[in-house]
Formats: sequence, structure tokens, C-alpha cells
Amino acid sequence: MYEFRIEAADKAELYRQLIEAADALTAGEPDAIANMANVAALLWESLPDLNWSGFYRNVGGELVLGPFQGRAACIRIPFGKGVCGTAAATLEPQCVEDVHAFPGHIACDSASASELVVPIVEDGRLIAVLDLDSPTPARFDAADVEGCVTLAQLLAPRLSGGSKGGHGELKNS
Ligand code: SME
Repeated sequence: MYEFRIEAADKAELYRQLIEAADALTAGEPDAIANMANVAALLWESLPDLNWSGFYRNVGGELVLGPFQGRAACIRIPFGKGVCGTAAATLEPQCVEDVHAFPGHIACDSASASELVVPIVEDGRLIAVLDLDSPTPARFDAADVEGCVTLAQLLAPRLSGGSKGGHGELKNS
């Protein structure tokens, strides 16, 4: 059993604790799906005001639904389509205050109002995207982007199925 008590007065501290927990959960485990599943659950439990947290994997140049928490979601997303596909195509985080104003936004859950998608890249290759949705407009800010980018850097070698992924392998951004 894992029990993480993530309580913080500010987002920087929240993400510090969250990343520490994600590190402990994924260190030494080479199975990408198991790691994505545990991190999706950790995000769901730790971050307030979400209606979806999870991953889309890069499978042969297409995003395919991975482990998540929340309502059943669309399965395949082409690169360049919607918020996830834009993050995949540009390799840049997408922090969207109002998903309804985002061209090509894919509505998986009508409750979603804002969204943060962060690409997970290892050795220049897109492994997956981390996707967070919220029912509150403008739920995500620069501190969420920074926290999720740091999390993505920690996770990249642990989601790529390679031989890397040692404990505490945080890269400088
Ligand atoms: N809204 C996303 C699709 C994935 S769901 O939010 C889970 C998008 O536009 O890419």
C-alpha cells in the first residue's frame, strides 16, 4: 500500500511533494504502463479541481490513450489535432485557459473548461503527453506548467521502456 500525504500551502511546495512521491513510485520500475498508471492516480489524488488526469502515448506517430483517471476518453488523437496533438507536434507545453476557444479542441468530457498538456520527451523523441483537465476555467498557471514539466523530465526515462531510469534522475531544464 502506498500512502502519500500531499498537503501544501503553495503550488511550488505541492509540486515538490508530488514529484518526490512520483519519484518514489516509479524508481527502479521499468514498466511504462505501470508507472503511468500510478502517476495518473497520484495526480488525481493530489491536485485539486481536476476532472481528468492521464497519459496519451506516442504509438507510431499517433497519440493513443494510456493510463488515466476520470471519464472514458477518446482513444486516438493525430499529432497536430486538439490540445494533446498540438503538444505532441510542437513538443511544447500547452496551457489552455478556455478549451472552447482552442481551435480543434477535442471534447472528451463536456465538463472540461481548461487543460494543461505537457510533452514527455526522451533523447529528442516524444514518448507520451501528460494531460490534465479541469472543470474550472484558467485552472492552470505557470506554476502548474513548471511543476508538470519537471515531473515530465523525471518520468521520461521511466516511461520509455529503455534501460535508464535510476532514482532521482532529474534533468536541468
Ligand atoms: N481535450 C483533449 C483530448 C483529450 S481529453 O481531454 C482526455 C485535446 O483536445 O487534445
